[in-house]
Amino acid sequence: MDRVEETYQIFLGQMGEGGFLEPYRQACRRMEQKLEKINEGYSEELGRVFISQVTCRIKTPESCLNKMLRKKCSLEMQTAQEQLNDIAGVRVVCSFLDDIYKLVEILKEDQEIEVVKTKDYVRKPKASGYQSLHVIVLVPVGKEEKKKVEIQIRTQAMNFWAVVEHHFVYKKGNYGKYEFQKDLKECAKAIYKIDKKMLLIREKMEMAQTVK
Ligand code: GTP
Ligand code: MG
Repeated sequence: MDRVEETYQIFLGQMGEGGFLEPYRQACRRMEQKLEKINEGYSEELGRVFISQVTCRIKTPESCLNKMLRKKCSLEMQTAQEQLNDIAGVRVVCSFLDDIYKLVEILKEDQEIEVVKTKDYVRKPKASGYQSLHVIVLVPVGKEEKKKVEIQIRTQAMNFWAVVEHHFVYKKGNYGKYEFQKDLKECAKAIYKIDKKMLLIREKMEMAQTVK
């Protein structure tokens, strides 16, 4: 094993065994519970499903290492904590476009957590066509500690696109390599149109119901 390989192994060991990831797991669980409660309350209030799916994942030590190398960071736990926003990740799928922004407002008003960053790839999609709204929040774990959690909020249609694209392109670092990416981008645009239209349909139906 050469020196470089040895540093990688030390980093992976520290991440895996040192209890480094445990508070991130707790933060994820806490966020998941919070979202469940929010969903119960708002689904009741709105008279329809507000959030249709919540999934959580913790980044593997290997994936943390790869990202640290990509970002050219020194391989230390402290640096990982500072530089990686998505060690803990929560994905939230809503039905409608406006639900995404409603949820962001709810999170901003929540006294328990702190929104530290939002990235709106719905208003400004990525070059790939990717749409989602990302919120980085600080979630308290234990008495003093807070951990960052990346929340990705998207509609069901955006999720369909992102899951497929992630599988074939993003994860494999294949961006820009394939002809079909033009088609994927067109699909992303069509999905945005559909999301807007579905929202309009819902609003019309709600109006019709109040008039009745
Ligand atoms: P990563 O190193 O990929 O985590 O990117 P980042 O830390 O610079 O943040 P960014 O907001 O660009 O992306 C965060 C996450 O959003 C990624 O880990 C993916 O889950 C998702 N994402 C971003 N861009 C794309 C994309 O083009 N396609 C898909 N399917 N997902 C994406
Ligand atoms: Mg990521």
